[in-house]
Amino acid sequence: MFPMNKLRSQDWFGKTDKNGFIHRSWMKNQGIPQHEFDGRPIIGICNTWSELTPCNAHFRLLAERVKRGVAEAGGFALEFPVMSLGEAVMKPTAMLFRNLLSMDVEESIRGNPLDGVVLLCGCDKTTPGPVMGAASVDIPTIVLSGGPMLNGKFEGRDIGSGTDLWKFSEDVRSGKMTLEQFFGAEACAARSNGHCMTMGTASTMASMVEALGLTLPGNAAIPAVDSRRYVMAHMAGQQIVEMVKANRTISKILTRQAFENAIKVNAAIGGSTNAVIHLLAFAGRLGIPLSLDDFHRLVRGIPLLANLMPSGKFLMEDFYYAGGLPVIIKDLGKQLHQDCLTVNGKTLGENNADAKCYNREVIRTLDNPVMADAGIAVVKGNLCPDGAVVKPSAATPALMKHRGRAVVFENIEDYHARIDAPELEVDKDSVLVLKMVGPRGYPGMAEVGNMGMPKKLLDQGVTDMVRISDGRMSGTAFGAVFLHVSPESAVGGPLALVRSGDMIEVDAHNGRLHLDVSDAEMEKRRKAWKAPQPVASRGYASLYVRHVMQAHEGADFDFLRGSSGSTVTRDSH
Ligand code: FES
Repeated sequence: MFPMNKLRSQDWFGKTDKNGFIHRSWMKNQGIPQHEFDGRPIIGICNTWSELTPCNAHFRLLAERVKRGVAEAGGFALEFPVMSLGEAVMKPTAMLFRNLLSMDVEESIRGNPLDGVVLLCGCDKTTPGPVMGAASVDIPTIVLSGGPMLNGKFEGRDIGSGTDLWKFSEDVRSGKMTLEQFFGAEACAARSNGHCMTMGTASTMASMVEALGLTLPGNAAIPAVDSRRYVMAHMAGQQIVEMVKANRTISKILTRQAFENAIKVNAAIGGSTNAVIHLLAFAGRLGIPLSLDDFHRLVRGIPLLANLMPSGKFLMEDFYYAGGLPVIIKDLGKQLHQDCLTVNGKTLGENNADAKCYNREVIRTLDNPVMADAGIAVVKGNLCPDGAVVKPSAATPALMKHRGRAVVFENIEDYHARIDAPELEVDKDSVLVLKMVGPRGYPGMAEVGNMGMPKKLLDQGVTDMVRISDGRMSGTAFGAVFLHVSPESAVGGPLALVRSGDMIEVDAHNGRLHLDVSDAEMEKRRKAWKAPQPVASRGYASLYVRHVMQAHEGADFDFLRGSSGSTVTRDSH
């Protein structure tokens, strides 16, 4: 028995009445002996394993290693499945289901006899969904990431998940690559277990939870198939038992200062724009005030240190061998709140004090960064009163300040139908505008914001142009892409009123996105605008479009903000 306050699992297993019999007896059909119910911490292993989420396909092995660590520390682990979201497979977009996953996780934790939980997280949405759910329960929680794939290898060179795909796709369209090569690259880009090995959304979110203090140090970068990933799983199992003993709940770790750290680290690693939405959603669950303005303000002066695709040259495997995120955290020094608490009871600074860098090409120094001022830029203006974002480190610098004529697509179908039409009036200075791809409009805010460029411009050798939408883009993508325009077009945001031929001005460094149309003309268009029919009338999608908040609020459901705690007052029998 542990010398600790009564554990919440004892509200199930510690009873001597009929309910205690029910809770223990049925568990015993799995061959569990009586002593496992003697008051030791019950640890849930929240598993997003699925063969439909290939990035998480190795998670049952990881769970076994977590169980060893839990048992070694004197706890008792029970693994449970939750919904899994495969970014590469799910339609219309995995983001549509992030909030549903968070609800699954929240209710699975609260409704069960768990004292602590290990979240097994990997593919893009399978980190934010579980963290959001766990934050709304607030018991001791540790994240174990599944790890990135090994570097892609194709025709004698390294290729990165997503990042090279976008290039290959444009090369096929412009005739620079054959279909045989294209198909051949598929297996070469995904040659081991693990998630995307660029600094895409999965690697970004693994880095975010490490920077937030929700993982053991060094968690983010270890490749999925490296034996040290399994050591990390074992150690996470040990650690969660210690966290239960110390009652180190998730809200003690996820403080305002921890979020400020994560925002700055995201700038230093060239992380995904998706991190903005997910961090805003996390903060909303904890009642921590966080806004787009914080992202704009906090990242000024933070240099890009990680030389990783899509902003740089290398991949996550290289990042791990170079020292990984601990080096970045150490090098940022006083830029971060190094005194923030982490899962192991030590501060962020203590955890990373001994970090060493073994390759300064991969992790640059503050004196020799990849880019001096690299964070995600937030822009505002009459086209996006509540903001939009762009990632200058992954864009053509000259296009970060630009004025061009809008070429408008009313929705994704309109885009597909006309983008390659010879008669499309477009040139390299045009600004592509895509509507109806926001949270409600798509629905689910799909990663289509980095819309492919018109074939006739590709044929001319144009490689980037300004693109604006209310959607997102993959963290692996690049380009002068302005995203997350809020409010979105489907709810009548100014984006809905843009017409082909309007002039648009962007200025990422000065935070401006302006539609050069008079207020009177905008008012006229607003009066003529008709709200689109809701995209769903039943089922989960209907719930989603009625309750999803806008991008600048994290696209969470309005009724999920905040926490309901871990207490359940009524018995089931
Ligand atoms: Fe799963 Fe990229 S598709 S992380």
